[in-house]
Amino acid sequence: MKLLTDNQPIETIDLDGIVIGVFKNNIFGDAAGRISSALQPFLDLNDFEGKKKTKAVLYNIAGVKSPRVILVGLGEKGKTDAETVRLAASKGVRKLRALGAKKIGIESLNEDGQSTAEGVVLGLYRYDDLKFKDKAKLKTLDEITFVGDNDSWNRGVTLAEGQNKARYLNDTPANICHPSWFVEKAKEYLSGLKNIEIIVREESWAIEQKMGAFMSVAYGSDQPAKFLEIHYKGGNDGDTPLVYIGKGITFDTGGISLKPSAGMGAMKADMSGAGAVVGTLYAIAKLGLKTNVIGITPLTENMPSGKATRPADIVTASNGKTIQVDNTDAEGRMVLADALVYVEKTFKPHTVIDIATLTGAMMVALGNAFIGMFTRSDELWKELEASGTITHDRFWRMPLDDIYRKQLDTPLADLKNVGGREGGSCTAAMFLGEFIEMGRWAHIDIAGNMSAKGKGYHPDGMTGKPVRALTTLAMKFEK
Ligand code: BES
Ligand code: ZN
Ligand code: ZN
Repeated sequence: MKLLTDNQPIETIDLDGIVIGVFKNNIFGDAAGRISSALQPFLDLNDFEGKKKTKAVLYNIAGVKSPRVILVGLGEKGKTDAETVRLAASKGVRKLRALGAKKIGIESLNEDGQSTAEGVVLGLYRYDDLKFKDKAKLKTLDEITFVGDNDSWNRGVTLAEGQNKARYLNDTPANICHPSWFVEKAKEYLSGLKNIEIIVREESWAIEQKMGAFMSVAYGSDQPAKFLEIHYKGGNDGDTPLVYIGKGITFDTGGISLKPSAGMGAMKADMSGAGAVVGTLYAIAKLGLKTNVIGITPLTENMPSGKATRPADIVTASNGKTIQVDNTDAEGRMVLADALVYVEKTFKPHTVIDIATLTGAMMVALGNAFIGMFTRSDELWKELEASGTITHDRFWRMPLDDIYRKQLDTPLADLKNVGGREGGSCTAAMFLGEFIEMGRWAHIDIAGNMSAKGKGYHPDGMTGKPVRALTTLAMKFEK
């Protein structure tokens, strides 16, 4: 699918269909101003009122070259927000694809090219690489032409492409997407982008680093674990970096504490944190942000085997703390623990943020309307909340409080890896807090937002959240 831009009036371009925005009470934006008089009679006939989340399909309008015109409602003029634009753009182009159009056009909705692009590129995503027999039947678009501010559109395309890359990694099943494949795919995505350096660490390195927590998960799997480092140097040489760490469990069976089989397949996406980190680094590098960012993804499967860690085993993390593994299904915090220790002592970062499908309890607490976020820094909370509001990857602050720490006490080791059912997401966050000392650290639990059931511009499958929020946050640190 080719993405093009054009400066001609959209109604004069030779296309199979176009998308035009309409505000409430059938007020047209500047976009449709030229053809509004031609469209008006049809609007009067079909009761379309430009309300949010509505659309109308019109055919063969005099003065419009393309045979199909999709009108998408933008709500009250002056009150239209970015999310309305994304949803409207997505609705319009998906409808044209479903109608069998090949070459389509869209104008800058509400004069917000970035959100228009995000809605288009996110809304059209489909994981169909592994479909062969029925693929010919799938309706696909060949070209999308955008008319409006090119810079704004291109920014939106890049942000959405970053998120789609995360989605692709997350959607790919675990027999394909194992740690080595993930690393190769990340290299493919990032190759050719300026200021990117990729370092792939092997298990032998992790053992040298005394990453006993990470390795306690990796030992159970026949797939070699990898520890991926992506360095983006858009800032000055001496500038301290922003670090993103993504949980990269390419499949989570639970290990010896085996998960029930119903729904276990969803755990192919237990590397969604890692996927988000790769997608974010892609977007940051493609946009050429003037700041230093490092992406870290500890990658392994969590499998039951003769070499797997058993409940009650005690392992030593790289900061010397001993952990009693009461439940091998609480493996995410184990791999993140060593990654947190490593980044704090190695890179002297100004900010560290980990992103993880960490606890089922988070899904229970917030569903998918909000993403749970834990931090001791009020400042970082505000920055992340603001970024999430812009991109509509909305965060909700959860408690990171010493009151939960005693649930991790055990007589046999420094701490245990589970704190019981009560406050499961909060004790998980407290566990992570034992492995990083700096104030500007945040933990983002995306378990409830990992997948979507075809809502808005999130088609069925994995969401790739919160790539756009993480990229937007990085913009704050530009020089
Ligand atoms: N990967 C899961 C959490 C998860 C569940 C993510 C559902 C997305 C959807 C994690 O490794 C896990 O199994 N957590 C356990 C922790 C428990 C053993 C303390 C859980 O949530 O049940
Ligand atoms: Zn688990
Ligand atoms: Zn997991």
